Amino acid sequence: MTAVAETPIAAPAPAAPPLPAVVGAGLRVPLVTGGGAEYADFDHAASAPCLAAVRDTLDAALPYYASVHRGAGFTSQVSTAAYERARRTVARFVGARDNDAVVFVRGTTDAFNLLARSVPDGCTVVVFAAEHHAALLPWQHRGSRAGRVVRLPLPDSPADAVAAARAALRAAPEGPRLLCVTAASNVTGEVWPVAELAAAAHDAGARIAVDAAQLVPHRAFSLAATGADYVAFSGHKVYAPFGSGALAGRTDWLRAAAPYLAGGGATGNVTDDDVRWNDLPARHEAGSPNVLGAVALAAACAELTRAGWDRLHTREQALLDRLRAGLAAVPGVHELRLWDARHPRVGIVSFVVDGVPAGLLAAALSAEYGIGVRDGLFCAHPFTRRLLPAGHDQAVRASLGLGTTTEHVDRLVGAVAELAARGPQWRYAEDDGRTVPVPDPRAFPVVGAE
Ligand SMILES: Cc1ncc(COP(=O)(O)O)c(C=O)c1O
Repeated sequence: MTAVAETPIAAPAPAAPPLPAVVGAGLRVPLVTGGGAEYADFDHAASAPCLAAVRDTLDAALPYYASVHRGAGFTSQVSTAAYERARRTVARFVGARDNDAVVFVRGTTDAFNLLARSVPDGCTVVVFAAEHHAALLPWQHRGSRAGRVVRLPLPDSPADAVAAARAALRAAPEGPRLLCVTAASNVTGEVWPVAELAAAAHDAGARIAVDAAQLVPHRAFSLAATGADYVAFSGHKVYAPFGSGALAGRTDWLRAAAPYLAGGGATGNVTDDDVRWNDLPARHEAGSPNVLGAVALAAACAELTRAGWDRLHTREQALLDRLRAGLAAVPGVHELRLWDARHPRVGIVSFVVDGVPAGLLAAALSAEYGIGVRDGLFCAHPFTRRLLPAGHDQAVRASLGLGTTTEHVDRLVGAVAELAARGPQWRYAEDDGRTVPVPDPRAFPVVGAE
């Protein structure tokens, strides 16, 4: 009998887990020209849609929702555990060191206002002119303990950014110093050299706070790996739009600072003439915490991590390359960027179109093509103004995310090409500073209670 050679049967490759789904995918929206289109959401950088996994987590948490920390009831204990589990999940998400604190806040703006009130008195704060207002303004606002704010001009390259930060921090008067810098620009999507900036800050005896609002929806971030001292981000930009965000980092300044808000939760004991404030993180979380916001935020962090950053990154970069190449081929389109066109960036493209004001372009994309973009100066007025080509006073921003498809990208490029070549097909007028279609026959669904 002839021996039959046995062919090993290859085990099927494990299927990649499905990409995180977003609530509202495939939504149809009406067009002024009649009919409708699948909504193409290119405004992820402003607020990303909710992840289905976040909604499902909230559904499961809601029956147990109760006040945290002080309740003796069963649901209070479940909610307290969920809130503190969310803190640990967020800590892992930002690569926090064992002794870092995670304070739940409302978002990145709130986080930097808290940090501005927590820096030691007289601290010199160094920022670049490229910052979002949330990272630019709190240091010079009411309540900030910063003594001096140094605003650095736009650096010509990432290496110049590092050199300029190091020089400015070294030149600062004796005393505490803090560099606050974006990890990824909300205008250009360009990724800043955070680890190098952290090293430069530490060389100069300073600390660094990182605005990761636009980075963490797209890429992993780690306090431990970058050496950064603080990081802030917002839930609604990481697909968890329930009013929560986080500030994570070193405890000493936060611990020594007066509580961000005075009230219950932040207090250990109150007598007629004395208050004993709690330690971190409760110290800065006065009032009933946003438990479900924190749970939602953690669910989004877990879901993005589960999906795998490499896979998310590869997918997004393919869409981004397609969008940038498509826009670059349209006559009259100029992309806004600070650095070389090949510099790494997240899925954000801001651009202008010669002959079509940004407000009109955005209104026509929505009304005639079912495409949602953002127009204006993107809460980074000094930066965006510096990047605008002559003859333009505002730009349009298209930002990608998990809701974006190839068809959306192709539709956006095609629509921009048509609008650049022949202008809108509908009439538009100014209304309260916005460009709107006139008339606007679209039926807007009524959402929410009166
Ligand atoms: C880079 C950057 N930082 C901070 C913020 C402020 O975030 P929030 O509005 O959630 O406080 C934003 C929001 O657009 C942003 O893009």
